[in-house]
Amino acid sequence: MTTKKRVAILISGRGSNMAALIEAAKAPDYPAEIVGVLSNKADAAGLDFARQNGIPTASVSHRDYASREAFDAEIERALTAWAADLVCLAGFMRIFSKDFAERWTGRMLNIHPSLLPKFKGLHPQQQALDARESESGCTVHWVTADLDAGPAILQRRVPVMPGDTAETLAARILVEEHRAYPEALAKLARGEVSYTG
Ligand code: GAR
Repeated sequence: MTTKKRVAILISGRGSNMAALIEAAKAPDYPAEIVGVLSNKADAAGLDFARQNGIPTASVSHRDYASREAFDAEIERALTAWAADLVCLAGFMRIFSKDFAERWTGRMLNIHPSLLPKFKGLHPQQQALDARESESGCTVHWVTADLDAGPAILQRRVPVMPGDTAETLAARILVEEHRAYPEALAKLARGEVSYTG
């Protein structure tokens, strides 16, 4: 088997998508291994799960850095220490500097709980309800310097049900996120998809 791609995951909170990637990567034939998890919040619940699974963690608070560039440089140091080939953002709620985003373009993925390009940014599930959509879903996409605007790799759809709240819709989408993200990362790690701009 060819060498597994080394993947770092960036989180800000719960980390359920991170957990899905860690679980998927336990399969012997999965083409990527999770080599580190970094959070911008020291109390992110996902860090505990990563540690319990023997994965190195780092916590880098954006509040400790005077600029976005300085914060991103610290993230870069962690990625270098872990010799990461690829980065997966999993509920990481910070925006990168242009330089950092451009350096990792083609090697960095994000998951977003809407059918992009619809409903970028915050509260996408509520945005979908407000727009009276009959379906929503999730998108795994390349990260570029523009927020939630990189090309999609994979989407999964779910129906919007009568009486849905942002919470019930988010829960239905999350089930699909946990399937879509490991599948998209495997495609990237196997070289089945590549960034073409
Ligand atoms: C997920 O629904 C993810 O798609 C979303 O945050 C949640 C994180 O949950 N990300 C974004 O909205 C990014 N713009 P998790 O920490 O349990 O994976």
